[in-house]
Amino acid sequence: MGSPSPADSSACALYQGPAPHKRPIIGAARPAWGLGQATLPREGAWAGRGRNGFFPGPRPGRAQLPAAPTMAAAAQAKIWARKLLPVSWLLCGPRRYASSNFKAADLQLEMTQEPHQKPDPSKPLVFGKTFTDHMLMVEWKEEEGWGQPRIQPFQNLTLHPACSGLHYSMQLFEGMKAFKGSDQRVRLFRPWLNMDRMLRSALRLCLPSFDKGELLECIRRLVEVDKDWVPEGNSSSLYIRPVLIGNEPSLGVSRSSQALLFVILCPVGAYFPGDAVDPVSLLADPAFIRAWIGGVGDYKLGGNYGPTVLVQQEAKKRGCEQVLWLYGPDHQLTEVGTMNIFIYWTHEDGVLELVTPSLDGVILPGVVRQSLLDLARTWGEFRVAERKVTMKELLRALEEGRVREVFGSGTACQVCPVHQILYQGKHLHIPTMENGPELILRFLKELKAIQYGAGAHEWMLPV
Ligand SMILES: Cc1ncc(COP(=O)(O)O)c(C=O)c1O
Repeated sequence: MGSPSPADSSACALYQGPAPHKRPIIGAARPAWGLGQATLPREGAWAGRGRNGFFPGPRPGRAQLPAAPTMAAAAQAKIWARKLLPVSWLLCGPRRYASSNFKAADLQLEMTQEPHQKPDPSKPLVFGKTFTDHMLMVEWKEEEGWGQPRIQPFQNLTLHPACSGLHYSMQLFEGMKAFKGSDQRVRLFRPWLNMDRMLRSALRLCLPSFDKGELLECIRRLVEVDKDWVPEGNSSSLYIRPVLIGNEPSLGVSRSSQALLFVILCPVGAYFPGDAVDPVSLLADPAFIRAWIGGVGDYKLGGNYGPTVLVQQEAKKRGCEQVLWLYGPDHQLTEVGTMNIFIYWTHEDGVLELVTPSLDGVILPGVVRQSLLDLARTWGEFRVAERKVTMKELLRALEEGRVREVFGSGTACQVCPVHQILYQGKHLHIPTMENGPELILRFLKELKAIQYGAGAHEWMLPV
């Protein structure tokens, strides 16, 4: 087949931005697409950071996992070998879908006839409960490929009761944000990384491939249609939730012959009201495991999240706000709730360091995680490491007074301090807040400047 491999970022490299509409526009109002927008800017990530987009796994010259027991090392080597194969060889032959891609130029638009009231800016917005007027919808069928993408009024889905997305967790999603800058322009934060991660997740579930650049352009246009829903103020944003589900109307556990891709939008308020950042307490109980080597914790699949709710409830029962996910007999710290974890400390070798677990297969490659690593490496003021960290190491560092800050990172909060960990019956005090928290506040300030700034930035895609 002459068409690009689904995993091949060259599809994006060839992308030249919005093409003129070929199809009729349905509905009353037609927005001026891409005002002054000739091409989609791309982060370096899409210019070829690895075969499979931005998150290809360990790279030469990067801190790798230190020597692990032979069995674990062999298992990891196998997993990485699998992950580093060209994706078309990886699973279920997704190459056969490659000839079918939906195109943003084919977008149909149906504007709502019943626009909803925008939220009252003086009232707090609860995350994920308010939705905008429109959504993106694209259907896929094995025999026909992708249908025309549609921007349509926000509406319920009609699903066959046997839908594989409902029965077998054939479902994946993304979470990203758009911000209204001080110049009133709306911009998406590093959406290329979410597109990379979404395509990886789709291939892992044998769901159809798509052109990341075309999907991103469809999302950009959706946000453009609903841009009046992006809240004002430098703590609010528009949360973007792309979803892809298997829509196979039969009960066999097999590859879906139908799929639905849709995107919905939620205006969201400040995670931390006011200027204060509230720290969280964590339950670290090795009896609960979120993800494991050889599993799918490093993909953003809905099936990874449902089972965590009970553990979150357990944390609440024991007086903690979130879960610190441990892994392995050495109780490695992996993630915090739905956030990546960072420790800022003096390492036992005496060097000041920011460390986060490496992407070894159990860690979700977070966009904010990547952004903090990128920022810290640019500053060059302390060592930045991606490597395993165990509870034993943390306990020793706490005893020796070497820990400065512990925090989570994620799209919802950006950066969230940790002040306590309940581990083996003991409440460990983490002195994050006593230390400023200097690094956390610096990251928050720098991210805000990029996200709400008026100027162009490589990480921001203007709508
Ligand atoms: C398990 C998990 N880890 C980390 C993250 C942070 O990822 P990101 O920075 O892309 O939001 C998320 C986000 O939802 C998550 O679910």
